[in-house]
Amino acid sequence: MRILIIGSGGREHALAWKLKQSPKKPELFIAPGNGGTALEGENIAVSESDIPALMRLIAEKNIDFVIPGPEGPLVNGIVDACEKAGVLCFGPRAYAAGLEGSKAFAKTVMEEAKVPTAAFAVFTRYEDAEHYVRTKNCPLVVKADGLAAGKGVVVAKDTQEALAALRSMMIDKDFGPAGETVVVEDTLIGEEASFLAFCQGDTVIPLPSAQDHKAAFDGDTGPNTGGMGAYSPAPVLPEERYAEIVDLVIRPVLKTLEKRGCPFSGILYAGLMMTQQGPMVLEFNVRFGDPECQPLLMRLEGDFLELMLACAQGRLHEISLSCSTDSALCVVIAAEGYPGAYAKGMEISGLAEAEALSPGKVKVFQAGTQMENGRIVASGGRVLGVTALGGNLATAQQNAYEAVARVRMANSRFRRDIGSKGLRSCWACGEK
Ligand code: AMP
Ligand code: GLY
Repeated sequence: MRILIIGSGGREHALAWKLKQSPKKPELFIAPGNGGTALEGENIAVSESDIPALMRLIAEKNIDFVIPGPEGPLVNGIVDACEKAGVLCFGPRAYAAGLEGSKAFAKTVMEEAKVPTAAFAVFTRYEDAEHYVRTKNCPLVVKADGLAAGKGVVVAKDTQEALAALRSMMIDKDFGPAGETVVVEDTLIGEEASFLAFCQGDTVIPLPSAQDHKAAFDGDTGPNTGGMGAYSPAPVLPEERYAEIVDLVIRPVLKTLEKRGCPFSGILYAGLMMTQQGPMVLEFNVRFGDPECQPLLMRLEGDFLELMLACAQGRLHEISLSCSTDSALCVVIAAEGYPGAYAKGMEISGLAEAEALSPGKVKVFQAGTQMENGRIVASGGRVLGVTALGGNLATAQQNAYEAVARVRMANSRFRRDIGSKGLRSCWACGEK
C-alpha cells in the first residue's frame, strides 16, 4: 500500500513513524516532510497548500491512501478532490472541515447541536463589533473567523485591548480574509483539555485525553504558540468522563452535520475548558493536534494503519482501540525567538543518545528540521518533540526531561514545566 502523508511537523513525523510499524508494510511518501519523516519514507517537495500539485503527485505516485496532517488541505477540499479522483483519503470533506476553518460556522453548529460553549456574537462590520464590545464587560475573547495559524485569538483583559484586536483583524486586515468576520465571545475560566475521537457514521472511538501547553513560557506566560508540549492522559479529564464528553459534545455535532447532509469522518478534536459549570467547547479541530499527536501515538497499541483505514473506508465499527496504561509526555524544543522571528540552520545532535536512554520508551520526533549533507539542522520554529513514556505522569515527565538534556542544539529553548499543571491536579485528587 502506497501512502501519502501531507505536512511537515512533529505530528507528521509521529504519523509516519507509527504507520511504518504496521504489519501491512506500507510504502510512505511525505509532502513536503522534514528531517524526521525522511527516515521513515520518501520526502517530496510539494507544498501542503497546493491542492492541484498534491493531486498530480497522488496520480504520479499511484497513491492508495492520503493522510493530511494539518487543517489547511482539509479545509481546502483535499478529501473532496480525492473522492472525485477515486482515491481514499482520511478526514472530513471541506464542508465539515469548516468546524475548524470558520469559527462562526463552528459556533452555529454548536448552537444548533446545543453543545455548551461561550456566549458569542458574529460580526462582519467593525462598527457593529465595536458597539458590542463597548456594551460588554471584559475580559472578552476576540477571534478571527478563518485559519490564522493559531494566532487569530486574543483574550482581551480590557475594552482597549478588545478594540485593538478588532481593528487589527477587521480594519488593518492583519490576518487577510480570515479576519473579515470576527467572533466575540465571553471568557471561560478553568483548565483546558484536548479530547480527540475517531468518528465515522455512528461510531465514535475516543482517544485518551491530552493537554497542550500553548503559551511560549513557563507558567503559561508569553504569547501563544502552536504548542510547546503535551501529555496524555490529562488528569483534568479522566477516562470515567470520556462517555460524558462524547454524549455532550461529539455525538450532537456529528448528528447536526449529518442532518445538514455532510456527515463527518476522521478525527474530531474538541478543545475544552473544564469550567465549574461543566465542560465547554473553546474550539474544534478536524485533525490530530500537534503536539498532542506525539504522546497519543506513543501510547497507542496495535495496527494504527488498520485503524486509519477502517475510519476512511467506513468500517470504524469493526475496530477496538488499545492503549498503554503508561503516561506519555512531549517537550517541544524550539528555536530561540519562536513564536517571533527565530534563528535557523543550527546543527542538532544527541538524538540517538536521547532515544538510547530507554529504547522504545523515548522518541524524538522532528518538526522544523532538514537533512543537509548528512547533518540534521534546524529549519523551523518548533524543532523537536522529545517524547517519553512512564508508569505515571511524574515518571513520564522525568524521562522526557532526561532525554531533552541529551539533545544538543545552539540557540534553543524549551519550557521546563510541561506536565506540572497535570501533576498539581493529581496531587489535588490524591493520586501519586
Ligand atoms: P482557540 O483557537 O479558539 O482554541 O483559542 C486559542 C486559545 O485561546 C485557547 O486554547 C484558549 O487558551 C484561549 N481561548 C479561546 N477561547 C476562549 C474563551 N472563550 N475563554 C477563555 N479562553 C479562550
Ligand atoms: N496543539 C493544538 C493544535 O494542534 O491545534
